[in-house]
Formats: sequence, C-alpha cells, structure tokens
Amino acid sequence: MKPALISASLVCMDFFNLQETLRLMEESAIEYLHVDIMDGEFVQNFALCPEFCESLRKHTSIPLDIHLMIKNPELKIHWFHPRPGEYISVHAESTPHIPRALAEIRRYGARPMIALNPGTPIHMLDYVLDDIDGVLVMTVNPGFSGQKMVPATLEKIAQVRAYLDERGRPDVDIQADGNVSFENAVKMRRAGANIFVGGTSSIFSQAGAIRDNIQTLRTALK
Ligand code: DX5
Ligand code: ZN
Repeated sequence: MKPALISASLVCMDFFNLQETLRLMEESAIEYLHVDIMDGEFVQNFALCPEFCESLRKHTSIPLDIHLMIKNPELKIHWFHPRPGEYISVHAESTPHIPRALAEIRRYGARPMIALNPGTPIHMLDYVLDDIDGVLVMTVNPGFSGQKMVPATLEKIAQVRAYLDERGRPDVDIQADGNVSFENAVKMRRAGANIFVGGTSSIFSQAGAIRDNIQTLRTALK
C-alpha cells in the first residue's frame, strides 16, 4: 500500500492567519498544499488565483497541488507557471482536449493529475493512462467546502485503484478530495486512496487546533 500523503486545502484556512498556517503545515510535514482554483463557470464559485500560487512559492517549500476547476484548462496552464514536483489537476469534464491539458502540465515538468467528478465514469481514463501521474476522485460535487461525501465515491475509489493496477499503473496516485473527515479518511484509505485533501472536515475543522487535527488525521490514515 502506498504511503498516505496529506494535501492541506488552503481555501478552507483562516486567511488572516496565512503565515502561521504555513508554519504549522511545515512543522507537521504536510506533503502538499492544495490550491483550489475556481472560475465561476466550470463550478458555481470563485476561489484563489495564479498570483496566490506565486506568492505561496516565495514563502514555503511545500509543493503545491493545484486543483483547476476551470473551463478549457489547456489554454490556461501557463498562467500558473507549474514547477517540477507540483501536482496540477484538470477535470476530465472541463475540456474536449484533456490530453492536450495533461501534456501542457508535463511540458513544465509538473505532475499531471486528472480529476473525475462523482458522476463521471472511470472509462474517461481509457485514453490518458500514459499521460497521468495521479487521479483525483472527487468525493463531493466540486465547488464548495463543507459538503457531505457522495457515498458511491467510496466504491469508485476502489474501482479506480483496481482499474489502474489491472492496466499496469500501480504507480499512479489516487487523491480523495471532499469531506475527508477523520472517519471518511479511514474508509477512503481502505478503498485505495493515498493522497487526502484536508479541509473543513479535518485539518481546518473548528473542533480542534490545526496541529492536533493534522495529528488526528495522520493517526486515522495509519
Ligand atoms: C471542493 C474542494 C475541496 C474540499 C474542501 O470543491 O475541492 O478542497 O471540499 O474540504 P472539505 O470538503 O473538508 O470542506
Ligand atoms: Zn480541491
């Protein structure tokens, strides 16, 4: 089983405590910073921006995990100046030219990840298997934090893991994004996910301090 990695969803943090939040992320050895980008078209919300990504790179060495919930991402990858070691995820539903979007990410030396909404069939992976390092299985409908997991997505994680392993791609990561609570994380891990987006359901839950929440999530993922 691949090691469990945590990607902290910064759209869920207290923006008035950004510096302290980054310090806590580094202290807790968080593996990625999840940056949700929303354009108000692909999803009914706006969130974060390329300048925020650039600023993060100046203030932390934690690699970014940029989740593009935007239309036609193949035309906009260059806005984000992807770096080697970063994950950039693009939605299979967001463009007719998904291979072009994935190739554009790879051209920067970054890691291409394809995102699937809860209702999107797994066979959308059929013709991009050679182009990806990861699959983002949306466990909520994208656009808003604080939602409840779509129950069918647990089985979907297991099906994606089996699909990848059967096709000789056990190396491909599976990221779960959406309502990754301490309880759901255990089920998602068991189903085969290995990267977990920590948002309001875990890391930034009001029920505890960030440092303690990260520890609780790590323990749940053991
Ligand atoms: C959903 C976002 C996530 C996530 C936030 O569109 O991509 O980052 O839902 O975490 P939760 O679901 O725990 O608030
Ligand atoms: Zn996300």
